[in-house]
Amino acid sequence: MTSGFLNQNVPRHVAIIMDGNGRWAKQRNLPRIAGHRKGVEVLDTLLPHCVDRGIECLTLFAFSSENWNRPPTEVRLLMELLHSTIDAQMQRMHENNVRLRIVGELASFSDKLQTKIRQAENLTHKNDGLNVTIAMNYGGRWDICQAARRVAIAVQAGELLADEINETVFDTFMTTSGIPEPDLFIRTGGETRISNFLLWQLAYTEMVFTNAYWPDFDETELDKAIQAFVSRQRRFGKTGEQIEASL
Ligand code: FPP
Repeated sequence: MTSGFLNQNVPRHVAIIMDGNGRWAKQRNLPRIAGHRKGVEVLDTLLPHCVDRGIECLTLFAFSSENWNRPPTEVRLLMELLHSTIDAQMQRMHENNVRLRIVGELASFSDKLQTKIRQAENLTHKNDGLNVTIAMNYGGRWDICQAARRVAIAVQAGELLADEINETVFDTFMTTSGIPEPDLFIRTGGETRISNFLLWQLAYTEMVFTNAYWPDFDETELDKAIQAFVSRQRRFGKTGEQIEASL
């Protein structure tokens, strides 16, 4: 497939909040879970499209720490969907050289789901194609707290000096350690919030918000977001003149 973009300009890492499933379903008089199911189907076309575009990492917010507060039936059906999606997709992802990682407070999930997550990660961990990270029971504040706790333990154990703690060291304790920071953040569904997603990791990320509901997010929508990214100048605190001089 021909890409309208020069591959060196495309974002290396795209992080997405897949919002709008419930409203997509409501518009069609369907139960909310039908929107989530349709949302999973989006990945069938989106993952190969990411590969075509030269994207190396894709991070998806599938279940936030706050989503436990939804009606119990929706939580139960979402858990079943997460389980069945990982179960159904892991072999296919493996065949497509995808490395799958799940980040979040996984101990809150059923033993069955935790086992499935470990199986999927073990099966795909040597793959060096697209890196897909799924954030489940994830919260950005939780991630920073768990990193701080583990840093404190390392200091207490004499493995790390308090003076040695800097951003690079701290980052190695985040659950996303080893994955480059997102270059492009996309939120579908019309809301313009980060909603406790990758708070630490999004410091310099370009943000794109679209009104499209997640089940309608297709290759064209992704290309529009990439186009918006490509047209921006990332300055990382420098002046525009400094960036132009360094090109
Ligand atoms: C937000 O839409 C979406 C979710 C809380 C769940 C998203 C999960 C999936 C699409 C399943 C993905 C699974 C894997 C394993 C990648 P919403 O329900 O808040 O929509 P609304 O704002 O319209 O109500």
